[in-house]
Amino acid sequence: MRVLSGIQPTGRFHWGNYFGAIRQYIELQHEHEGFYFIANLHALTTIRDPQRLSQLTLDAAIDLLALGLDPQRATLFIQSDVPQVSQLTWILMTCTPMGLLERCHAYKEKKERGLTADAGLFTYPVLMAADILAYDSNLVPVGQDQVQHIEVCRDLANSFNHHFSPVFVLPEARILSNAAKVPGTDGEKMSKSYNNTIEIFEDLKSQRKKIMRMQTDSRPMEQPKDPESDHLFQLYRLMASPEEIEQMAALYRRGGFGYGEVKKALADVAERYFAEARRRRAELEKDPDTVRDILQEGAARAREKAAEVLQRVEQACGISAATVTTSNALPQ
Ligand code: ADP
Ligand code: TRP
Repeated sequence: MRVLSGIQPTGRFHWGNYFGAIRQYIELQHEHEGFYFIANLHALTTIRDPQRLSQLTLDAAIDLLALGLDPQRATLFIQSDVPQVSQLTWILMTCTPMGLLERCHAYKEKKERGLTADAGLFTYPVLMAADILAYDSNLVPVGQDQVQHIEVCRDLANSFNHHFSPVFVLPEARILSNAAKVPGTDGEKMSKSYNNTIEIFEDLKSQRKKIMRMQTDSRPMEQPKDPESDHLFQLYRLMASPEEIEQMAALYRRGGFGYGEVKKALADVAERYFAEARRRRAELEKDPDTVRDILQEGAARAREKAAEVLQRVEQACGISAATVTTSNALPQ
């Protein structure tokens, strides 16, 4: 059973990315063969600054390793290091009805807002399908927002299999638990687009400052509060021990405390929770050769698998080098 997931390097990872996605992908490496990649070709649809894109790509790889992705267990690589994926994208595009892509939400929303979209954004789901199908992936862990893209991938694989021959493995989506819909500094869903994120590896001093400035509700301090409905508590419970969570919940129910205390406790548990990952990150940053080796080895493994699948596909649709030379060969 092969698990595959990709994450775009469109910004530094925040707590929402970690608790909503990354932590869950990483856990799956213990149960299944894992392929994880940094989706820099997808990120090219939004980032047009070359230095920023390459820095964010490397940062994303280092972050994943520091957060526990183990290159002995799982294969970590950069999407663009596997050219077979782009080749497969073209082949899949020739079997993709326009209507299918017109219904996809990223493109549809942009169009509805009156913005111009490029062909990259329009065909984004086909590239994503190629990412998945190129490695015979069985299981794809994704957030709810990506489920539509897995459906597109299954549709394309099914229609190719039906039209030519059954070369593609049909993947299943594993929808990540949304119990961890992580709130941001303003209480809304944490997201780069809302400017309310707390980055995992943000400098500790500025992280603490950001936490101390978080919005809170305006109820008087004496009033007892329901902990579950408060975003400071929702964040605290992700990183505190069961005893600490119990004590904090009791404090909320009793009332008569200041949010400053909660914020300080939140900054403390966050610092402790990610301390080991910060230490590992600092070590990896000092050792770019090791990171490069890991990514190169990962890419080599991924290319090997993708080349095998692409060969099957090319044979099925009549463009494999072997078929073309044989059928076009002039009689001796
Ligand atoms: P952003 O909203 O900051 O642009 P992305 O869309 O790049 O984040 O998200 C990457 C992954 O992280 C997705 O799988 C998404 O479901 C997950 N994720 C992002 N923000 C949150 C959040 N606040 N709570 C839970 N999961 C999240
Ligand atoms: N589109 C995904 C996102 O924005 C990232 C991604 C690209 C992906 N290719 C993938 C996820 C293949 C799973 C499988 O989150």
